[in-house]
Amino acid sequence: MRLLVTGGCGFIGTNFIYLMTERHPDWQIFNLDKLTYAGNRKNLLKLEKENNPGYTFLHGDICDKKYVTSVLHDYKIDAVINFAAESHVDRSINDPAPFLTTNTLGAQNMLECARQAGIEKFVHVSTDEVYGTLGPSDPAFTERNPLEPNSPYSASKAGADLMARAYFETYKFPVTITRCSNNYGPYQFPEKLIPLMFIKASSNENLPIYGDGSNIRDWIYVDDHCTGVELTLLKGRPGQAYNFGGAAEKTNLELVRELLAILGKDESLITYVKDRPGHDMRYAMDFSLAEKELGFSPAMTFEQGIRKTVEWYRDNCEWLEDVRSGAYREFMDHWYGERK
Ligand code: NAD
Ligand code: DAU
Repeated sequence: MRLLVTGGCGFIGTNFIYLMTERHPDWQIFNLDKLTYAGNRKNLLKLEKENNPGYTFLHGDICDKKYVTSVLHDYKIDAVINFAAESHVDRSINDPAPFLTTNTLGAQNMLECARQAGIEKFVHVSTDEVYGTLGPSDPAFTERNPLEPNSPYSASKAGADLMARAYFETYKFPVTITRCSNNYGPYQFPEKLIPLMFIKASSNENLPIYGDGSNIRDWIYVDDHCTGVELTLLKGRPGQAYNFGGAAEKTNLELVRELLAILGKDESLITYVKDRPGHDMRYAMDFSLAEKELGFSPAMTFEQGIRKTVEWYRDNCEWLEDVRSGAYREFMDHWYGERK
C-alpha cells in the first residue's frame, strides 16, 4: 500500500508511523507535515537516517490544494490518513482561527483533493471531544450521540466530521472517521497533562490542576489508538465513524496522584489554578462497535502504560528539552501567567 499520512511528525502520527513500518514493511509511507511548533521531524529521523525505502518525509500544508494534489498524483497514493491538526484545547481558547483553518478547512481540502484523485480509502482522525461532555453517571458516548462540541478545538474537529459525512453521503467518497479518547505515551508535546506534569514534578515545580481536579478523562495508550486507526484503514466500513477508548476513566487528580507516586514525589506539589473556560466534565467511550466490526480492544492497562511512558520520558530528557524551547515557552508563560 502507498499510504499518505498527514501530521506524522506529531505525537500520534510519529507512534503510528513507527508501528506501521514494523507491522507492514511492504508499505510505502509518505508523511506530509507542516512542522508547526508541535511537529518535530527529528522524531522520525531514525527512519530517514536508515534511508528506509518505505518512508518519505514531505514538508507541506494540508490546506495547500496544489501541493496536496501533486503529492497524491506524483507518489501514486492509494490511501490517506489525516492526523494533521492543531490539537491543544487551551491554545484554541487563546486563538481559535488556526484551528478552523487546519482542522476544518484543511480537512475539507484533503477530502476534496483525495476525491478528485480517486483515492479509495480515507481515514479522518477525529476525537471524542466532538460529542461534548458527560455527567458523572451518564452512559458512555456511542457513535449515535449528537455532536455537541464545547471548545473552539472540538468545534473545529466536529466541523471536519460533518464534512466527512457529507462527502460520503453526497459523493459516496469512501471516508471513515475515528473518534478516540485521551492518548498518552512517547513523543507527546509537553503542553498536554501527562508530559507537563512529568516535567514539573521532576524539577519539583508546582503542578497546576485546573479547577478542583474532578474532571474525568478516559486514557488510552497511544499504540492502542494507532491499532484502532490501522484496523479502520483495513476493515472500516465507508461512511462509518468508530469510537476508541482505553476503558481507563480517571479524574485528573487521581491521575496526577498516581504519577507522583511512580515518580516518588510528594502530593504537596499539587496546586489548584483557575479552571479552563468551558471545561468538559467527563469523557467516556463505548467502543463496542469497533470491537464487533474491527476486532479492536485496548491491549495496554493504564498501570502498564503509565510506567512505560514515564520510563520513556526519563530516557529521553533531551527530546523534552529540545521541544520545550522557543514557541512552547512563550505560550506557557502567557497561559500560566494568567492563571497564577
Ligand atoms: P500533535 O499536535 O502532537 O501533532 C499534530 C501534527 O500535525 C504536527 O506534526 C503538526 O506539525 C502537524 N500539522 C498541524 N497543522 C498542519 C497543517 N496545516 N498541515 C500539515 N501538518 C500540520 O497532535 P496529536 O496529539 O498527535 O493528534 C493527532 C490527531 O489525533 C489530531 O487530529 C487530533 O485531533 C487527534 N486526536 C488526538 C488525541 C490526543 O489525545 N492527543 C485524541 C484523539 C484524537
Ligand atoms: O479527548 C481527546 C483529546 O485529548 C484530544 O482530542 C486533544 O487533541 C488532546 O489535547 C486531549 O485534550 P484534553 O483537553 O483532554 O487534554 P489536556 O492534556 O490538555 O488536558 C487533560 C485534562 O487535564 C483536562 O481535563 C484539563 C486538565 N489539565 C490540563 C493541563 C494541561 C490540567 O488540570 N492542568 C494542565 O496543566
